[in-house]
Amino acid sequence: MAVGPFEAGEQALLIDQRENRHLVTLRPGEQFHSDRGILRHDEIIGQEEGLTLRSTLGTRYLVLRPTLAEYVLEMPRGAQVMYPKDLAALCFWADVYPGATVVEAGIGSAALTLALLRAVGQTGRVISYETRDDFAKRALKNLEARLGELENHSLRLADISEGIEEREIDRLLLDIPEPWRVVSPGADALRPGGIFACYVPTIIQSQQAAEALQGHGAFALVETFEVLMRPWQIQGMSVRPFHRMVAHTGFITIARRVQSGPGTSTAVERATEGKKG
Ligand SMILES: C[S@@+](CC[C@H](N)C(=O)[O-])C[C@H]1O[C@@H](n2cnc3c(N)ncnc32)[C@H](O)[C@@H]1O
Repeated sequence: MAVGPFEAGEQALLIDQRENRHLVTLRPGEQFHSDRGILRHDEIIGQEEGLTLRSTLGTRYLVLRPTLAEYVLEMPRGAQVMYPKDLAALCFWADVYPGATVVEAGIGSAALTLALLRAVGQTGRVISYETRDDFAKRALKNLEARLGELENHSLRLADISEGIEEREIDRLLLDIPEPWRVVSPGADALRPGGIFACYVPTIIQSQQAAEALQGHGAFALVETFEVLMRPWQIQGMSVRPFHRMVAHTGFITIARRVQSGPGTSTAVERATEGKKG
């Protein structure tokens, strides 16, 4: 994350007085145009963050570097991005840590990839699987615009359910429609103690994923949850939840890779164990 005065080539977030947001890449001599007037990039380059400028039509703009959450919501999209509340929860509950080797699918617009790269740090590694070439190209542009050239990220243009090439990985994160098809490849790729996590929009998909994990034999501690975030307005006497909120995004399912062996029981065996004798 850059600090100090804005430099040419960096991204800036322009927030107008109505809180409309615009992501711009600063280039000497260029201008930002909207129906609220024009701002010159040169008025921003060389300035510290947090300045307020007026457009040629008098609109006030606050200028800041975008946080990661702001960037993922404003960056160009190919596929639907994962929302910041889910990115935060997923990275924490899947326990993505500095130095970890993480495989994810699909890269989509790279919102999750950006969060994972931050969590694994310079010593970790992220490998993204993606089936669609057009989404992959968009995603790589989004990554480069935010992070520049990366040595600890690689992309495989492949269907992850057909197999994961990596072995002894620490974490597997899936934002694809059929994560249950990756339970067996995931068991082959994850190290013992590793974590499988998936994110799907419907509870039917979550159920299918959870049942595949419970029935496999190489996974334990399967749990499913969703994250609700209700923003509040606090302004004078008006102290209440906002009238609008993002009511639903997706469900997260997490499981631990355990050692399969003679003592390992499947969910069906565990369910019938209590009834014996
Ligand atoms: C919802 S988007 C992922 C969004 C991404 N996580 C983000 O936050 O920007 C789902 C992506 O998965 C890809 N995909 C679907 N099935 C796949 C599979 N079996 N293997 C690899 N990629 C897959 C799709 O092409 C799409 O780009």
